[in-house]
Amino acid sequence: MTYRQLYGEIRSRLGDDAQAYSFYLLNRPLPELSADDGVVPGSVLDTHKDAVKRIEEGEPLQYVFGHAPFYDLYIDCGPGVLIPRFDTEVLAEEAIKTLPENAVFADICCGTGCIAAAVLNSRKDTRAICVDISDKALYYTERNLKKYGLFDRAELIKLDVFDSWDGLPKADCILCNPPYIAAAEMKELPENVKREPYEALYGGEDGLDFYRRIITASKGHFKGEPHIIFEIGYRQGNALRQLTGGKCEIKKDLSKNDRVCVIRGFL
Ligand SMILES: C[S@@+](CC[C@H](N)C(=O)[O-])C[C@H]1O[C@@H](n2cnc3c(N)ncnc32)[C@H](O)[C@@H]1O
Repeated sequence: MTYRQLYGEIRSRLGDDAQAYSFYLLNRPLPELSADDGVVPGSVLDTHKDAVKRIEEGEPLQYVFGHAPFYDLYIDCGPGVLIPRFDTEVLAEEAIKTLPENAVFADICCGTGCIAAAVLNSRKDTRAICVDISDKALYYTERNLKKYGLFDRAELIKLDVFDSWDGLPKADCILCNPPYIAAAEMKELPENVKREPYEALYGGEDGLDFYRRIITASKGHFKGEPHIIFEIGYRQGNALRQLTGGKCEIKKDLSKNDRVCVIRGFL
């Protein structure tokens, strides 16, 4: 099979995923393949045959290839852990720009550890406490931090944030992308998103359970003045303003949607 033929097959079988798939499979932009009459090596075709079938069956591309781009890193991921999202880079960037010098930050609900990895990698003066309820998440966090030589600046803690925070060391700042999808929206999720862990997505009836809990439970867990950077859903800006009595700043993503909520000081 030639790259030109592969181009036709990828386009017809994968639709919206075709562009990303071309990068995952070949590290080449899709349009480039359309004019290439070179022969695709057998090993690549074998990978392609297996991958395209799994994706057609609804498996997310990032699980099939085992990683996802995040900030300036490639984060390992797989079934059982949330795939890092482009939107979450807004939170990571806010932290990278605003954490005080030598900060200790807590990445609560760390998942793959993508946020902690991006911040630790860009801010060599910082240290992280990574927290999640899921063994799979902590496994991937450790793996990703080790992958980039960041593990010696991190502590990993298994904790249900609805339990006591007594064992959690104090931090200068809490970073958190919690589960924030409301009950009604859970039913509308695309099929491939439903392959991701339910407990990484569901944020309670109104989607706000984790924000309420973390705002309350984090009191007394800061070294100095409270500083929380949350990722929020694109329709949750007003809800967070209400929850904090207006004492927060809502920041937008590149699509001009509400995406990050910054809380500084006591509420
Ligand atoms: C939306 S994901 C975020 C993952 C990662 N921080 C990211 O941005 O890709 C939420 C994470 O919260 C974790 N989680 C769910 N319930 C939890 C709980 N009660 N306590 C601690 N972590 C929890 C899930 O395991 C999941 O990894």
